[in-house]
Amino acid sequence: MRIILYTGKGGVGKTTIAAATGVKLSQLGYKTIVISLDVAHSLRDAFDDHEKLVFQEKEKQIQINDNLWIQEINVQEAIVEYWDDVYNYIRSLLNRSGLDSLVAEEIAVFPGMEEICALLYINQYVREKSYDVIILDCAPTGESLRFVSIPTTLEWYMNHIFKLERNLARVAGPVIEKVSSVPIPRDNYFKNIQDLFDKLEGIDSVLTDPKITTVRLVTNPEKIVIKETQRAFMYFCLYGLCIDAVIINRIFPEGVDAAYFETWRQAQQHYIKAAMDYFSDVPIWKVELFAEEIIGEAGLHRLAETLYAEINPADQFSKERPYHFQKTADAYQLSMRLPFLSKEEIGLTKHGDELIITVGSFKQHIALPRTLANKKTTNAKLTGDQLVVKFEGEIRGKKDN
Ligand SMILES: Nc1ncnc2c1ncn2[C@@H]1O[C@H](COP(=O)(O)OP(=O)(O)O)[C@@H](O)[C@H]1O
Ligand SMILES: [Mg+2]
Repeated sequence: MRIILYTGKGGVGKTTIAAATGVKLSQLGYKTIVISLDVAHSLRDAFDDHEKLVFQEKEKQIQINDNLWIQEINVQEAIVEYWDDVYNYIRSLLNRSGLDSLVAEEIAVFPGMEEICALLYINQYVREKSYDVIILDCAPTGESLRFVSIPTTLEWYMNHIFKLERNLARVAGPVIEKVSSVPIPRDNYFKNIQDLFDKLEGIDSVLTDPKITTVRLVTNPEKIVIKETQRAFMYFCLYGLCIDAVIINRIFPEGVDAAYFETWRQAQQHYIKAAMDYFSDVPIWKVELFAEEIIGEAGLHRLAETLYAEINPADQFSKERPYHFQKTADAYQLSMRLPFLSKEEIGLTKHGDELIITVGSFKQHIALPRTLANKKTTNAKLTGDQLVVKFEGEIRGKKDN
């Protein structure tokens, strides 16, 4: 079982490459599904010359060939399937606040909902072993990060807020309802969240296990795109996901007769070199700009052949977890890979049994092993791209990881 995420800036070629990878894997005999998480879906369009699509419009998964399915996540549908009560509660809450019901309906699909829906499907496929490979055609980088951060956030919510909220609603709910117009969530709201949480259980370790899940960053040889790729690389490390390749797409081919593009080509060569340097510890695969848009199974197959040649895209090309706990001679420590950052950009707080690492507006809660929960951090140091956080105290007992 493999899950492979393809992500990157808007327009770099994520959907095309995810779809091409699906085609390649299906031809290698893997039962494969490509799932699009981008609200601006274009996965279906990438296969658009496919006659069968017309007839299967209504189905959630569209079958492309014997081994290949595609699915575009539809939040509204997923809500009906998974999340009715929570949604209804939020909608009624917004309604009471005087919002027009149509507007309330729109807003009730709040940020993160698409990602949660996608996670629900993915976890279901993982549990039911429905596919050999799940390929995720992710939304642009920011949303993708929200996607991978949701399991930890939910876990945190369940451990810290959920119980409190439920007890409060039970005790104070009837009183509040008498004096205000704010609806208090009913028990089925909480039951629904609990169900939801149960359905997502385990997805966190699936996403952070490099034997199952790896991320491939799609980029273009341009300054701004490469820069965003570096940030994305760092953020995925922060969330504990293993990146196992970088794909540089849309490279101008050699030898085309186009003086007009010469400056572009030189700039591209410069940024390709820079990318090879920045991302030197993962494989870098290159794809040229094709002479036309890549649409349909045959076109995607052609792209897959130039991208992968003899490579099996289901393989893992890096197996390293971005962070791990270790015991050195004198202390316990957490080592975390956080490339392309200066120490001023990293915030660290220890709160009870978790270490909170902040970079910009992104926050990662790292649950500490029991041995470290009541130990203070003594020292944190960024050397190159490794952040090392040391914990006080003598070492007793066995190794944690
Ligand atoms: N190597 C390439 N050569 C030619 N066209 C490409 C290439 N990669 C992507 N495209 C085209 O660029 C457009 C945007 O690609 P897409 O995969 O939808 O990007 P994203 O999913 O990252 O937004 C599509 O029309 C696609 O066919
Ligand atoms: Mg896309």
